Amino acid sequence: MSLYERIPNNVDLSNDKRLLRALEHWLPNYMQWWSDMGPEGFQADDVYLRTATSVEPGGWAHFDYVKMPDYRWGIFLAPPEHDRLVGFGDHMGLPVWQEVPGEYRNMLRRLIVTQGDTEPASVEQQRLLGQSAPSLYDLRNLFQVNVEEGRHLWAMVYLLHSYFGRDGREESEELLERRSGSSDKPRILEAFNEPIEDWLSFYMFTTFTDRDGKYQLLALAESGFDPLSRTTRFMLTEEAHHMFVGESGVRRVVRRACEIMRETGDDDVRRQGVVDLPTVQKYINLWFSLSLDLFGGEVSSNAASFFSAGMKGRAQEPKYADHLALEGSYAVAGEDIPLRNAMNEVLRDSYIEDCEKCLERWNRVITEHEIPYQLRLPDRRFHRHIGAYAAHRFDPAGHRLTVEQWNERRDEFLPGEKDSAYVRNLMAPGIPEIGKIAHWISKPTTGIHGKPFEFEYVRREQ
Ligand SMILES: [Fe+2]
Ligand SMILES: [Fe+2]
Repeated sequence: MSLYERIPNNVDLSNDKRLLRALEHWLPNYMQWWSDMGPEGFQADDVYLRTATSVEPGGWAHFDYVKMPDYRWGIFLAPPEHDRLVGFGDHMGLPVWQEVPGEYRNMLRRLIVTQGDTEPASVEQQRLLGQSAPSLYDLRNLFQVNVEEGRHLWAMVYLLHSYFGRDGREESEELLERRSGSSDKPRILEAFNEPIEDWLSFYMFTTFTDRDGKYQLLALAESGFDPLSRTTRFMLTEEAHHMFVGESGVRRVVRRACEIMRETGDDDVRRQGVVDLPTVQKYINLWFSLSLDLFGGEVSSNAASFFSAGMKGRAQEPKYADHLALEGSYAVAGEDIPLRNAMNEVLRDSYIEDCEKCLERWNRVITEHEIPYQLRLPDRRFHRHIGAYAAHRFDPAGHRLTVEQWNERRDEFLPGEKDSAYVRNLMAPGIPEIGKIAHWISKPTTGIHGKPFEFEYVRREQ
């Protein structure tokens, strides 16, 4: 198969010899990375996966069995909008850029590399999870997320190769060289260096960290650099499933805990082999706070420059009345900040609102079981490493603590070694058997693509 047949695309790859050559060079390195750092132990299995084959709404995905190394990582951009104009910032109302504007070249490259770096990072973080999957359904969802994060890397590498010449090629290689958690070549953003060693962490990550991804992509989808806007718009269609995997995964863990509490009357459900709600809360505290850091400092001149330049907007920019954001201020950490400098916080606020909806859905399950317990998001000041709150310690309610108080109480708030060990042991080994499910999680209400839960989502190599 020739390279452009191997890569489904809507960028006329077969006629772009320069891009083809660059990708031909990059592909073997990518495959090497996938075999070193992709899901361990399942590369020879047939997995029931969706593959993006076009950008038609409703018909963009094809479902079939495929071995992950044969997955066709495609390059898709949302269709161009005719006569699109820059929608915010200093160039508002001018035609969007089809080539990189010289004065914003470094800025754009940095935005693309930072986004691109998160995609392979998450695959690395999740690499061993297959071994403890609670069912074939979950195993398949993990791999679906993994191959699509691989495709998102392709999407960013496409932009680097097409628009940034030699620098772009170098950045593309470096995207394959950094490693999640490595001490000498770590991934760029901190949440992407945290290990994900159990499925509760995976569901939290796909709920909270993939949702950060959604908001970053929404902000980039507004970009006046049209190829970036079109690329990220299509990525968002895939991202929805990742967040579904997370939100429904946590919901099923919570449901199981509630069922067992009702059935046994035992409040300490660890004795019954499921995850207790206070542990779920600690994992929420961890992954929500790590994900809040990904939005960057509350007051940011970088964010202001991205906005002024028309390179990164707000999520759903058209819903705002004023797209210049030159007047007005935003309340940040008790101070009024000029709006453009507060763009990180504006985006973070949209994100928090969205996260609240997940908490509502999880709490509904608890309420249905008439259990007097509620999960909640920790205060935005809690456990931050970047921005206005990083210098101090706060409890999940947002009350200031001394360092001594924090050290003493840390394990009340965040998963401690005992909690992680409990969760890991509970989940290992996984249950890769048709129609079966681990004791600690409830079955999903529906399967994938109209198939039942009992479908053979992953055919293990004989
Ligand atoms: Fe992604
Ligand atoms: Fe994702």
